[in-house]
Amino acid sequence: MNRLHSLFLTLFTLCLLAAGNGWATQAAVDDPPIIDFSERFLPTVARHGMVVGPEQLAAEIGSSMMKQGGNVVDAAVATGFALAVTYPRAGNLGGGGFMLIHLADKNQQVFIDYRETAPAAATRDMFLDKDGEEDLMREYFSPQASGVPGTVAGLLHALEKYGSMSRQQVLAPAIALAEQGIPVSFALNYELAERGERLRQDPESLRLFFKPDGSAYEVGETWRQPDLAWTLRQIAEHGAAAFYQGEIAQRIVALMTAGNGLITLKDLADYRTIEREPVRGTFHEFEIVSAPPPSSGGVHIVQILNMLKNDDLAALGHNSAAYLHLLAEAMKLAYADRSEYLGDPDFTDVPVGALTDERYATRQRKRIDPDHATPSADIAPGRAMLPESKDTTHYSVADEKGNMVSNTYTLNASFGSAVSVPGTGMLLNNEMGDFAARPGLPNMFGLVQGERNKIEGGKRPLSSMSPTIVFRNGQPWLATGSPGGSRIITTVLQTLVNAMAFDMNVATAGVSSRIHHQWMPDELLAEEGISPDTIKLLEQMGHKVVAGGMTIGRTQSIMIENGWLLGATDTRRPQGWVAGY
Ligand code: DON
Repeated sequence: MNRLHSLFLTLFTLCLLAAGNGWATQAAVDDPPIIDFSERFLPTVARHGMVVGPEQLAAEIGSSMMKQGGNVVDAAVATGFALAVTYPRAGNLGGGGFMLIHLADKNQQVFIDYRETAPAAATRDMFLDKDGEEDLMREYFSPQASGVPGTVAGLLHALEKYGSMSRQQVLAPAIALAEQGIPVSFALNYELAERGERLRQDPESLRLFFKPDGSAYEVGETWRQPDLAWTLRQIAEHGAAAFYQGEIAQRIVALMTAGNGLITLKDLADYRTIEREPVRGTFHEFEIVSAPPPSSGGVHIVQILNMLKNDDLAALGHNSAAYLHLLAEAMKLAYADRSEYLGDPDFTDVPVGALTDERYATRQRKRIDPDHATPSADIAPGRAMLPESKDTTHYSVADEKGNMVSNTYTLNASFGSAVSVPGTGMLLNNEMGDFAARPGLPNMFGLVQGERNKIEGGKRPLSSMSPTIVFRNGQPWLATGSPGGSRIITTVLQTLVNAMAFDMNVATAGVSSRIHHQWMPDELLAEEGISPDTIKLLEQMGHKVVAGGMTIGRTQSIMIENGWLLGATDTRRPQGWVAGY
């Protein structure tokens, strides 16, 4: 009896020890597995902290901030500054963006709008020539193309209000990379080659991005950016004032004065980051929190989900013709509304409530014919869609407590206006192109936009950037976002639907083939992987399908399942990275 008793005690003690070591977590019968290895695409798993982004060095820097005791905002800010060094096509100081934060202990979401603003002197017709035609070179590749940059103000606002580390701490790794140099990766070499011609036309960009003899840096060579290191150090020492009032501001204005640009010292001094109420919607047991105007992203994601939520999507089958038809028709209705109703809410009334109202979605859903595509012309006019420019970038951050950051920022086109500010190592954005140069005329993404998005001094151009966080039964679950111009909205939407309605893991949800329809032009883009049979069925319903030869977006996502962080970088573009520990 005594021996039995002591055996029982030993077993009991072993069980307790095992539980303390986490063995019990793995052994418990009612715990679902972290990942189902039978799925084709698998995420990367970490326990404590994770950054998923478009480039390795910056993602690792973000993750290391958390390892050193920083929070998700410290990680996001450090990643944002580091990407300005390592990923110059879209990582930036001279651009703008949106950051969505979930603060787990307060159960609160914060949306930071650090979008560029039009200089005060900007006018409605500034990009039209004397014949009323759009002057594309001025609109996209000149000092006039730039809005007042918001990135430095936005990242520092996030850090000061929601971070825990000092400016010096979060900027130090970016300064070191700029100073000591980075090895040129395959992706960087490729991106610089792709935009080389344009960059070489600007003397400062030629000096910054190429060797003294004008040739390109080869893969593996070290690329140093001492001017950018100076700029970052100014910011570390003096904060946003260095950028918006100090020496950096002087250098930006010197470029503007020399190149007929419009940004003045007053425009820079007047720049403000704005915290806004995010857009919210529901889809079964999920709550979607996303970008409000001046982004169109959140509104249209919620609007489309509202139109889809009473259909049994799983029964239709993922990427079946019936599902894709429904999706495309809902996209068309939403993008038609975008052209009419969306703009900077500080300048125009945007009916966010009406557009995201479920009753409106129910009415709109009835307009969708289950068997036939409605021609976009029966909704309104447009022009050809240009190929997707591969810029803008998104990264997601999460920690074990359920804090999350979803950040999308951009220079607009790849390497922005391709114009660099002498002595700063910094490219400027060409975000002015996101306004309607002439309302009713499509922009570089083929998007037709209305009066609400006309150019006005101090206004923010309408965006599609959609950093999003999804909650499942009230718990933080998925952070995601994407580049892709007009395709950002449909990319994020499909990633969400794949995870929420088709029960895909975060990696599969991101890599699965996507479609895109933006109402005008009346074309349904279908990535490789949508079967020819499906395309034939869609064509029979009346869709004009453009299949293959393109990719749609590039997500960087983190899902929290069962206390584990599951990360996935979309393989549509090279060398994205999941950094976690
Ligand atoms: O704010 C917007 O919607 C655009 N400026 C985003 C540009 C973009 O995504 C380019 N890239 N792929």
